[in-house]
Amino acid sequence: MNNINQTIIDAFNFRHATKQFDSNKKIATEDFDTILEAARLSPSSLGLEPWKFLVIQDQALRDELKEYSWGAAKQLATASHFVLILARKNVTSKSKHVQHMIKDIKQYEASTIPAVEQKYDDFQTGFHINDNERTLYDWASKQTYIALGNMMTTAALLGIDSCPMEGFDLDKVTDILAKKGIVDTEQFGLSVMAAFGYRQDDPPKEKTRQAQEDVIEWIE
Ligand SMILES: Cc1cc2nc3c(=O)[nH]c(=O)nc-3n(C[C@H](O)[C@H](O)[C@H](O)COP(=O)(O)O)c2cc1C
Repeated sequence: MNNINQTIIDAFNFRHATKQFDSNKKIATEDFDTILEAARLSPSSLGLEPWKFLVIQDQALRDELKEYSWGAAKQLATASHFVLILARKNVTSKSKHVQHMIKDIKQYEASTIPAVEQKYDDFQTGFHINDNERTLYDWASKQTYIALGNMMTTAALLGIDSCPMEGFDLDKVTDILAKKGIVDTEQFGLSVMAAFGYRQDDPPKEKTRQAQEDVIEWIE
């Protein structure tokens, strides 16, 4: 295996779902900026970037969330950086967000916009994305997991530990964030959490994975 291949595989073996971080070790700004940039540059369906990344460094807020986050309690207490990944609601062609993406970000020419909107509508209908609000939200949420994966791999390549987390009471946590005005629940839902820092315990649990032949099949 050449160096880059080995570096990548080593990073995937290094990464594990870290429960307890060393709270004395902070991630350097440059490194965390790189992790955030990996998120921002991630691909998304139709390139609509239906996400937002909230970096929660306020310990009092973390403590509040901890009460309703059984799978994230230790990470909330000890991680150097803690991210809430939000997914956008109702990402349809006529929504404010999609109009902003089409006009301001992608800067499509006005004359092409009706065709673009039609393409988005047809795709969302054919893929059952716009069946209802829930299917639309789940589609946006899927995109956030791509960013999540890229953030964790980037961290691992930098020797930084991480943990993805769904172990929280969605309604209770959302309620806290909404009441504090941190999340506009008309526009966003909390998709998943991610913690970053440096492991407290070394080494972690042995990795368990199915064998390649159990999960990969070549049709030739
Ligand atoms: C979407 C997602 C949600 C997860 N939620 C939690 C969680 O709430 N708390 C936790 O400690 N680990 C959580 N995990 C970590 C998994 O349990 C872990 O990735 C899996 O057991 C494989 O172990 P490894 O990541 O150490 O290789 C989650 C993983 C994913 C991908």
